[in-house]
Amino acid sequence: MPQWLKDAVFYEIYPQSFYDSNGDGIGDINGIIEKLDYIKSLGCNAIWMNPCYDSPFMDAGYDVRDYKKVAPRYGTNEDLENLFKVAHQKGIKILLDLVPGHTSDTHPWFTESKKPVKNEMSNRYIWTKSVWDAPPQYRMMVGITDRDANYMVNYFCSQPALNYGFYEITHPEWQLPCDHPDCLATVEALKDIMRFWLDKGCDGFRVDMADSLVKNDDEKVATARIWKGIREMLDKEYPDAAMVSEWCHPVRSLFKGGFHMDFYLDHRGNGYSTLFRYEVDGEDRSFFSKNGKGDVTVFTDEYVPNLKATKDCGYISMFTSNHDIPRMTKNLDETARKLAFCTIFTMPGVPFLYYGDEIGMRYQEELTSKEGGFSRTGSRTPMQWTNGKNLGFSTADKENLYLPVDSMPNAPTVENQRDNPNSIFNTVKDIIKIRRENNSDLGPDGDFKVLYAQRNKYPFVYQRGSFVVGVNPSANETAVELDVKQKEVAYQIGDAKLENGKLTLGAQSFILFKTAE
Ligand code: NOJ
Repeated sequence: MPQWLKDAVFYEIYPQSFYDSNGDGIGDINGIIEKLDYIKSLGCNAIWMNPCYDSPFMDAGYDVRDYKKVAPRYGTNEDLENLFKVAHQKGIKILLDLVPGHTSDTHPWFTESKKPVKNEMSNRYIWTKSVWDAPPQYRMMVGITDRDANYMVNYFCSQPALNYGFYEITHPEWQLPCDHPDCLATVEALKDIMRFWLDKGCDGFRVDMADSLVKNDDEKVATARIWKGIREMLDKEYPDAAMVSEWCHPVRSLFKGGFHMDFYLDHRGNGYSTLFRYEVDGEDRSFFSKNGKGDVTVFTDEYVPNLKATKDCGYISMFTSNHDIPRMTKNLDETARKLAFCTIFTMPGVPFLYYGDEIGMRYQEELTSKEGGFSRTGSRTPMQWTNGKNLGFSTADKENLYLPVDSMPNAPTVENQRDNPNSIFNTVKDIIKIRRENNSDLGPDGDFKVLYAQRNKYPFVYQRGSFVVGVNPSANETAVELDVKQKEVAYQIGDAKLENGKLTLGAQSFILFKTAE
C-alpha cells in the first residue's frame, strides 16, 4: 500500500473546465499548474484528473485515440510531465484517468482491427464471426465496417470494447477465452500504457469502468484476476503508485482485484445515493435533505459490512460529486451541503472533492449536451475563480468558452467566499484541516463505529477513534443518549451539545468532538 494514501485528500479536476491559461476558451495543463497552490490551500494533497489524452471527444475524452499523447487542446506531453514535477515539489500527487475497457473508434488499433484482411489487431476488439451474427444480448455495432463481422461496444457507440476475452463462452465461434494470446496481449498493451506514464512521473490511475474488462464474467472473477496481476506489476515495479477503481464493489475491487481504493458510486438506491441524491415520486428522500425523509440505515447496512470485509486491504472512497452526477446544489441547500461534506471528510477511506463543490457551484441543468455529456454537462462547467470576466476562468470571448460560466448574478466564486468564515469554502477547508491534523483517528485507517443509526430516524452518530461525530440534517431538533464523555468540540455547525450523556442536535447541525477517557 503506498504510504501517501494514508493521509490523502483528493481533488478531482475536469481539465476542460478548470483554468484556461492561454485564453483559447478551454482549460489546460498549464492552467492546472498555476492553480496548484490553490488546491494545496484547500488541504488537498492529491489530484485525479479526467482524461487528457488525444481524442475525438465523443465522450469528453473517455474515447481515447492515443493513450500516449496529451490532447493538443490541453498542451503537450512535456506540459504534463511538468505538472507532475511541480505538483511533487508542492507535495501533491497526480492520478491520471486510465480507460482500459474501450478506445475511440478512431484509435489506430481499431482502424487496423476493422480491416477485412486478418492482421495483428484483428482480435484487439470483440468481433462476431460474420455480419449476420448479432446475438441480441450483446451491444453490437452491426454492418458498419468492411470487415464481415460486428463489433461489441463498451459504452457509447464510438467506444468499441477491447478484447480481454470471455469468462463463460457461449459462442465459441467468435468468443475468445481470457488466456488466448491475443487477449493476453491486450493486458500487456494496458500495462505498457501504465508504465509509459508512471515512468514520466504520474502517481497512479483512476480506472474507468474497471469491472468491464472480461465479458460474460458475472461475478467478475476473471476481471479481478487481471487487476490482481496488474497490482503485482505495480508492487514490483512502482510500489508507490496507487489505483482507484470505478467499480463500487469493494470486495471484488479491493480484496480480489487488488485496487487500493474503490469508489462508492452514485447508483440509484444504494447507500451513497440515498444519503445525498435520492428522489422517490418527485419527493427528495436523501438523508441530507432538510425535509427529514431520509433513511441512513440504507447507507450503514451497506457500508459497514463492506468496510469490515475490506479492512486492511484498501479504502472505500466517497466523493462530494463527480463529472457524471449532478452537483449536490441541485437538491441540497448550503447548510445541508456543509453537513454532507463534513460527514464525507470525517469518514474512513480516502475522500474526493470535485472541483467547484467547495464553493457551491451550481448544477447548470439548463445546458444542452457537450461532447457526450448529456445530463452530466451541468456538472462540468468552468470553475468560478473571481468576480471578473468569465468569472476568472478564461480571457477568451464568452462565445468561445468550452461551456458557459454560470450567469446567475449571485454565482459563487473563490474570490467572494475566501474571506467569509461562514462560507462553504471555509467549511470544507476547516474540516479537511481537522481531518489531516487528526489523521490517526479521522484519516483512512481510523476506527469507525456507528453509535446511532435508526431506520427513518435522525440523527446519525458515529465514532472515529477518540472522536464522535453527530449530524442532524433534518429541520427538527433531535436528541440521543450516548455513553461517551466530551473533552472538547473540534467543529460545529448549528446548535449541538452533549450534556449529561445526551447529545442534542438542533435543526441542520453537526458536531465533531473529542471524547474524554
Ligand atoms: C465512466 C466515466 O466516468 C464517464 O464519464 C464515461 O462516460 C464512461 N465511464 C465511459 O468511459
